[in-house]
Amino acid sequence: MKAPFPQRGPRARRAGAHSSLAVYPGSFDPITNGHLDIIARGLSVFDEVIIAILVNPEKRALFTVEERVEIIRRAYAGNPRVRVDTFSGLLVDYAVKAGASVIVRGLRAISDFEFEFQMALMNRRLNPRIETVFMMPAEGYSYLSSRLVKEVFQLGGSVKDLVPPVVERGLREKYGSAQPAAAPLTRRRRAR
Ligand code: PNS
Repeated sequence: MKAPFPQRGPRARRAGAHSSLAVYPGSFDPITNGHLDIIARGLSVFDEVIIAILVNPEKRALFTVEERVEIIRRAYAGNPRVRVDTFSGLLVDYAVKAGASVIVRGLRAISDFEFEFQMALMNRRLNPRIETVFMMPAEGYSYLSSRLVKEVFQLGGSVKDLVPPVVERGLREKYGSAQPAAAPLTRRRRAR
């Protein structure tokens, strides 16, 4: 996948004193092109990005954590600057364990802001050494969410160009060939 803007590469890393590492946490159920856009932007600022999938047994997910890890691995096969991992417990504790001092989050719209603001300030209170950096995706992804992707696919709509091909294949395996479902997916208040 070609990034739409300059990326930090080995030369930039050689020139810099330290290599920088950011954690990009989320549910990624499934990962969308909006997430990929944020990761590309993260890679334009940081040398490495860890995509950290939250293991949350209380949240019903379409893809298992193992499937999400595999999907993301395939989406980034051959890119040594992107790692995939899972975590449970506090995000700031995971960041420390991973050796990262930055958390990257995407901000799509003002509606994201309140929750993200609360989370960033809570994380800062928990560990003031971990900084949250917000990045805005391309406008074309500002309406995109994992929840909508699942709903549109399940109801027979096209999600081409909204998710990487490996996710489309995964959705087909889960739902069959995008047949309209008997009942729409349960709505949740806020989901990515
Ligand atoms: O993709 P999502 O569902 O918006 O991601 C939310 C996530 C995983 C970033 C958030 O739920 C999280 O960080 N959970 C870990 C628990 C934690 O650290 N909570 C306290 C800080 S708010």
